[in-house]
Amino acid sequence: MKVDVLLGLQWGDEGKGKVVDVLTPHYDVITRFQGGPNAGHTLEFNNIKHVLHTIPSGIFREDKVNVIGNGVVIDPSIFKKEIDSLLKLGFDLKKTLYISKKAHLILPTHRLLDAAIEAAKGAAKIGSTLKGIGPAYRDKIGRDGLRVGDIMHNFKEKYDARVKQHIDLLTNFYHFDYKEALSDYEKAWFEGIETIRQFQLIESETFINNQIKLGKSVIAEGAQGTMLDIDFGSYPFVTSSNTISAGACTGLGIAPNKIGKVYGIFKAYCTRVGSGPFPTELHDATGQKLRDVGHEYGSTTGRPRRCGWLDLVALKYAIMINGVTELIMMKADVMDEFETISVCTHYKIDGQLTEDFPYELNDSVEPIYESLAGWKAPLTGITKEKDFPKELSDYISYLEAQLHVPITIVSVGPNRSQTIVR
Ligand code: GDP
Ligand code: IMO
Ligand code: MG
Repeated sequence: MKVDVLLGLQWGDEGKGKVVDVLTPHYDVITRFQGGPNAGHTLEFNNIKHVLHTIPSGIFREDKVNVIGNGVVIDPSIFKKEIDSLLKLGFDLKKTLYISKKAHLILPTHRLLDAAIEAAKGAAKIGSTLKGIGPAYRDKIGRDGLRVGDIMHNFKEKYDARVKQHIDLLTNFYHFDYKEALSDYEKAWFEGIETIRQFQLIESETFINNQIKLGKSVIAEGAQGTMLDIDFGSYPFVTSSNTISAGACTGLGIAPNKIGKVYGIFKAYCTRVGSGPFPTELHDATGQKLRDVGHEYGSTTGRPRRCGWLDLVALKYAIMINGVTELIMMKADVMDEFETISVCTHYKIDGQLTEDFPYELNDSVEPIYESLAGWKAPLTGITKEKDFPKELSDYISYLEAQLHVPITIVSVGPNRSQTIVR
């Protein structure tokens, strides 16, 4: 058996949570391999709307194992909140959710450092989710991190040593007033550590590889999106992990030859939350219409998402970097009332047309569009491809011809049931 990977091809919020939930019946093990509570993955079914941050989106289906892999960074206080709210819905995950001992912890001071670093950047801020992601990964790469496995022995001692260094930075370098916030965060954080202790803390790389040997099927759920990847995204306006398919290898401990399908998810248009370049962004009424109809407000921070047309230059780049084998198009219904739909096919850079993704998406990148007819019909009630309006079928065929990868799923609403497999 192989591990299938599902990941976002744009700037995040493509609808990964919904699709993982839809695909989970086909898998035995559902894993997260990178990112942390910067993610907000929304699932809707049976009148439940739930947003997950750290926990894989397979937990609502019976008889599945969910694993938080070593590449994830965990904030214990947020994890506890997630667990508590799932318990209220009647889902007790103690037997079905495993956590890698090698996953790193986001400390309360990482969150404060995130705020201090963003404030120091001023207008050049990344627009981070302020969840402490950057500082936690910084400590991991700098070999100063604390891992879930550390909570077993002399934890307070290790914690105090780390926090002492962070406080030194906050005080003497960033001149950041941290005291009140720190004591609030710490209380909830240590309660979260007690919650983590109640779970099965494992060598998840060994567990997952054994599952593969036993013939079990595994899916790896990406967080964020390819354009936010630390190496290949719009650096420095990115997150601090490898969001691409290769990240599943390092974030779970699986070899590259164990990767099977790579599902790439994209919205039928494009959104971005936070700062940084976005060539096809619409600052006009059309952008506002996408935001209103698509309810484009962040699942984690509530911030309005920036909206624009689909960008095929960026999408082709993302397909290349990830080795996407199947495409999944989300939120087609959001464009139900559009007379025409534009798609960026090229960038014009210094007077030259190109389909290649440049080193930097700076102001000299001008998107060049092609227009297609809109379908002007409601999609949300459609359950079969044969009922697609002709213009939607044409839009799909056009994209497949451009991208050279089949679109195997089309999503026409937020609910589990509003998903059409082709
Ligand atoms: P994720 O981070 O990739 O899991 O995506 P988010 O959950 O942050 O954002 C996707 C949003 O779109 C959520 O509010 C979903 O409920 C919603 N959604 C997902 N698929 C569709 C769809 O096909 N149509 C519409 N209208 N909404 C969708
Ligand atoms: P999901 O998994 C959309 C963005 C932030 C910011 C940048 C860096 O729900 O798709 P960070 O807190 O990671 O240091 O922020 O990345 N960002 C996301 N945008 N969806 C996400 O996750 C995101 N996670 C981080 O807005 O621009
Ligand atoms: Mg999201």
